[in-house]
Amino acid sequence: MVAPLILRSTLVFPIAILLCLIYGSSSIFSQELQIVNAERRVDLTTHIVRVYLTLKVENIRTSPASEIILAFPPQQVDHVASIKAVIPVGKKKKKSYLPLDVKPTEAPDAPNGTKYFSISLIKPLSSGESVTVEVLYILTHSLEPFPVEISQAESQLVYYHDSALILSPYHIKEQTTFLKTPSKRVESFTRLEPTDRASNEIKYGPYNDRPAHSYSPVIVHFENNSPFAVVEELVREVEISHWGSLQITEHYTLRHDGARHKGVFSRLEYQSKQSPSGSFKRLLARLPPRVHSVYYRDGIGNISSSHLRRDSRKSEMEIEPRYPLFGGWKATFVIGYGLPLEDFLFESPDGRRYLNFTFGCPLVETVVDKLTLKVALPEGSRNPSALVPFDVEDHLETSYSYLDVIGRTVVVLEKKNVVPEHNTHFQVYYEFNRAFMLAEPLMLVSVFFFFFAATVTYLHMDFSIHKVKEN
Ligand SMILES: *[C@@H]1O[C@H](CO)[C@@H](O)[C@H](O)[C@H]1NC(C)=O
Ligand SMILES: *[C@@H]1O[C@H](CO)[C@@H](O)[C@H](O)[C@H]1NC(C)=O
Repeated sequence: MVAPLILRSTLVFPIAILLCLIYGSSSIFSQELQIVNAERRVDLTTHIVRVYLTLKVENIRTSPASEIILAFPPQQVDHVASIKAVIPVGKKKKKSYLPLDVKPTEAPDAPNGTKYFSISLIKPLSSGESVTVEVLYILTHSLEPFPVEISQAESQLVYYHDSALILSPYHIKEQTTFLKTPSKRVESFTRLEPTDRASNEIKYGPYNDRPAHSYSPVIVHFENNSPFAVVEELVREVEISHWGSLQITEHYTLRHDGARHKGVFSRLEYQSKQSPSGSFKRLLARLPPRVHSVYYRDGIGNISSSHLRRDSRKSEMEIEPRYPLFGGWKATFVIGYGLPLEDFLFESPDGRRYLNFTFGCPLVETVVDKLTLKVALPEGSRNPSALVPFDVEDHLETSYSYLDVIGRTVVVLEKKNVVPEHNTHFQVYYEFNRAFMLAEPLMLVSVFFFFFAATVTYLHMDFSIHKVKEN
């Protein structure tokens, strides 16, 4: 009687695991949907990789589906700076896009450590129905310079790693991937037939009927001389003064993230030729219209070589560091400017005030590894709250500037891995008591009065030394 019991318990356990594995690999996600058609376009023309994914998804189950799952290999997920998903509605000219919510999600049985994001559909997809979803995700630090060191006159070559097949928890009936390189110069690329190359585009596919979680690594080695501008740290200080202006001060630590510079730098050679090596001499900052009192300085002092172009919609400032930046080189500098308050400060219907300003970095096509945004509210502001359209870390600080009595509340927002797509508006709401507006002028008046009194007293004193008349 004893023997079969032991036998059974030793057998049941592995069978249970086996069952789990079978049900696991065809996980909670994959049974209900399939991708009828997938097109992926990977833009490799700058150092920020943008991937445009168009998925036609069909519900093949009987119950309605309310989410679509995106999958990423673990080595790629840390480089994902932003994911957006929309459903296009309407035809050609009247086409508009419904934004969808995208959130990271977990699957206990993820093969090879795959990471998932869930796209929530506004209206569940009923049985037999299909929907087209457009996704844009952005990868930073995903182009690896090789050779790792180049001289001033050399072109920069980089590696990009991906999969020829779209990683997905769903069966994909038909799929194609296009990689767009900045130039025709492609040293090598992995083939997975059918693979095609024309001009500056590599085409993988079409591939038919690939099961869920199919993956086929590819490497592309190509020329990319775009400026690899990375701001290791950016601190943006925004100071609201109810006296009509918004003062912005931005502290940059900029690094050229491309192939390291080899040999000595020759300014003569640099100036005589178009230096191909992706070095950069100028940077463009997009500032709001009506900007004034702009300055640009580094550790040495003010740099005058900045040009400001303005029109009614935007201002563009071209800034030129003291030396061109090559791979591995760094520059630290500060940009400051003033803006008219009425363009950015408003009153909400509930009587609170709010600042409506842009998050992100004004330098074009730049990655910011760590961004800290500090909004200093006017003295006497209470109950601040920030509204940002993506995840940020936030806390409050108190700062004191001249004339401040009780200090200003500073709303601090922090975000890592920031790309140009994060240059969207955010709001900081706060309550403000008008009586506080009088505090500073009253202080000024009393200071002036004191000064005036002191001067008058001084003038009435007689400090002259009278010579004793010699008689
Ligand atoms: C730099 O320029 C700013 C704005 O034009 C000015 O306020 C400041 O005094 C200048 N600093 C130096 C050291 O010249
Ligand atoms: C903030 O400003 C932008 C651009 O002017 C505008 O589109 C948006 O509606 C504003 N947001 C709020 C809450 O006022």
